[in-house]
Amino acid sequence: MNSSACSRERTPTRISKCSDRGRCDGDGLKQGSLFPGSGEEMSVAGKAQKITTNTLLEMKQAGEKITMLTAYDFSMARILDGAGIDVLLIGDSASNVMAGNDTTVPITLDQMIYHAQCVVKGVGRALIVCDMPFGTYQGDSLGALNNAIRIMKESGAHSVKLEGGSEIVESIERILTAGIPVMGHLGLTPQSIYKFGTYSVRAREEEEAEKLVADAQLLELAGCFAIVLEKIPADLAKRVTAAVNIPTIGIGAGADVDGQVLVIHDVIGLTHEFNPRFLRRYLNLHELMTEAVGRYIEDVRNLDFPNEDERYC
Ligand code: KIV
Repeated sequence: MNSSACSRERTPTRISKCSDRGRCDGDGLKQGSLFPGSGEEMSVAGKAQKITTNTLLEMKQAGEKITMLTAYDFSMARILDGAGIDVLLIGDSASNVMAGNDTTVPITLDQMIYHAQCVVKGVGRALIVCDMPFGTYQGDSLGALNNAIRIMKESGAHSVKLEGGSEIVESIERILTAGIPVMGHLGLTPQSIYKFGTYSVRAREEEEAEKLVADAQLLELAGCFAIVLEKIPADLAKRVTAAVNIPTIGIGAGADVDGQVLVIHDVIGLTHEFNPRFLRRYLNLHELMTEAVGRYIEDVRNLDFPNEDERYC
C-alpha cells in the first residue's frame, strides 16, 4: 500500500488577510519600510499589506506602475494575488471568456456577483474591482446605486467599475454618495459595441480625443479613484495621464500611463484566436493543456492510468 496515495486528501485552505507579510497598521501598511540591508526606501506597493485606492494614488505620485489583471474564480484569484498583483478586476469580459458570449452585453448582475464572490475568497492583498454589467447603471442613478450596493454587500468586492464619461456621471456621483469607490473606463467601451460597430482603436480624431480628455477630468472631479483607458493612441493616453491626478490604467494605450491591465485568459494563452497588437502572451496554456489532456486520454485508453500507486486500498 502506498501511504502517500492513501492519505493525501484535499485539505481546506484559509486565506490570511493580514498575517504573513509583516505587521499591519490601520492603513494596511507594514511598519518599518526598508528593504533589509539595502538602506533604500521600500516601494509603495512593497510596503502595502493590502492595496487600497489610496495606495494606487500614492503609487502614481511615486511614479510606480500599477499592475492589474482580470480574475473570475477562486483558484485563479489566489494565484494572481499570491504572485503580487496590485488590482484584480472581475471584468465583464467574463461574458466572453467564461460564458462564451460574443460580447459583454448579455452578462447579468447576478452572474457578476457570483464571479466576484469566488474571487474575493481567493484574495488577501489585491484591491478588488467589480465591473457593473451593461444595463445596471445607465440612465437611472438610483438603480445604479442599488446595483452597486448589491455588488458590495453580496460579493465583498472593494469597488466597482463603470464604462463611459459625461453620459453616466450622475450614476457615478450617486454611487459615490454611498462610499463605494468607483473606477472609470474610457476609450473603447465594449458595452457600447453596437454603437461603435467595431472593436477598433478609439479617439484617433481630435474631436473624440478632446471629449475623452474632458471626460477623464470630469470623472476625476466626480470622485473616481482611477480610470481604465482602453485601446486609444498612446499619445492621447499620455495626455490624459498628465491631465488628471488620479491613476490611469491602460489596455492597448501604450506605456505612458500609470498602470497596465490585461485579461488573464489572454496573458496565459487560454484564448488563442484573439491576437490584438497590444497583447503580450506569457504562456501558451491552450497548447500545454491540449497536450496534457491528450496524454491523459491516451493513458486511460491504454490502461496506464490509474496505476498501483494511484489506487486506494
Ligand atoms: O472586462 C474587462 O476585462 C475589462 C478590462 C479589459 C479592462 O474591462
